[in-house]
Amino acid sequence: MLFTQEREGAGNTDNLEQRIAELGPWFHNLRLHGVQTAPRHFLGDYPEVKYASFRTVLPEDMRGMSVLDIGCNAGFYSLEMKRRGADRVLGIDADEHYLRQARFAAEVSGINVEFRHMAVWDVAKLRETFDLVIFMGVLYHLRHPLLALDLIHEHVSRDLFLFQSMQRGSKDIAEIEEDYDITAPAPFDEPGYPKLHFIEQRYSKDPTNWWIPNRACTEAMLRSAGFAIEARPEHEVYLCRWQPVPVPADGPHCVYPAKDV
Ligand SMILES: C[S@@+](CC[C@H](N)C(=O)[O-])C[C@H]1O[C@@H](n2cnc3c(N)ncnc32)[C@H](O)[C@@H]1O
Repeated sequence: MLFTQEREGAGNTDNLEQRIAELGPWFHNLRLHGVQTAPRHFLGDYPEVKYASFRTVLPEDMRGMSVLDIGCNAGFYSLEMKRRGADRVLGIDADEHYLRQARFAAEVSGINVEFRHMAVWDVAKLRETFDLVIFMGVLYHLRHPLLALDLIHEHVSRDLFLFQSMQRGSKDIAEIEEDYDITAPAPFDEPGYPKLHFIEQRYSKDPTNWWIPNRACTEAMLRSAGFAIEARPEHEVYLCRWQPVPVPADGPHCVYPAKDV
């Protein structure tokens, strides 16, 4: 069901193919008045195929909701949330190249989404919380991934959190005890122990890949930052809900100023 109808004849569609080509290269394959922006994407029809695997876990009717899309790229998810009727959608990205594409896509589609040049590190400056925060495909591009989750939790998330990360390593989840004696056999070699793989050089020819978690680590980081996992509609995607940062019985184990500590 569409709650926001693209305005008929919206935007200037003259020379659409040429303008799309001038704004390339595109990472998102959008369909703008039938013209695809990245028809030969290395991941197939991306992100449409990804979206198809988790779209049903999101509220179909988003009227009354506010959405923040962090690392929005060319705005595929921002535009989709607006199509579901979200009142306010803000997309932010650290790269102006992608924001130019996003603004263009919104304009020619006649969809009202705000896009801002902003890194995840600056979300506190928004001074606003959102019903849904989308953080898809960004975590492994960050040198400080847990800090990003902490900042999102502290400053902009108030309810739903849609998260995706590339994952590598074991898909197992080991049962982790609350504590281990330093002299006891370490659990770290268990495949299902939470592990974050550090990329010192490159991964997949991309120097912006820094840390790639295994499944157990992804889930542990989400919980540790205060995001309760409600659904895992496909292997890399999580729908979470904001909860207070868990505090061990013997008190907080870091100085990070979590909300309820
Ligand atoms: C792999 S793309 C994912 C795009 C989109 N979220 C998706 O899932 O299709 C990563 C995006 O994150 C952006 N990005 C990288 N580091 C960022 C940061 N520190 N703050 C905000 N955006 C960032 C990149 O510019 C890029 O658009």
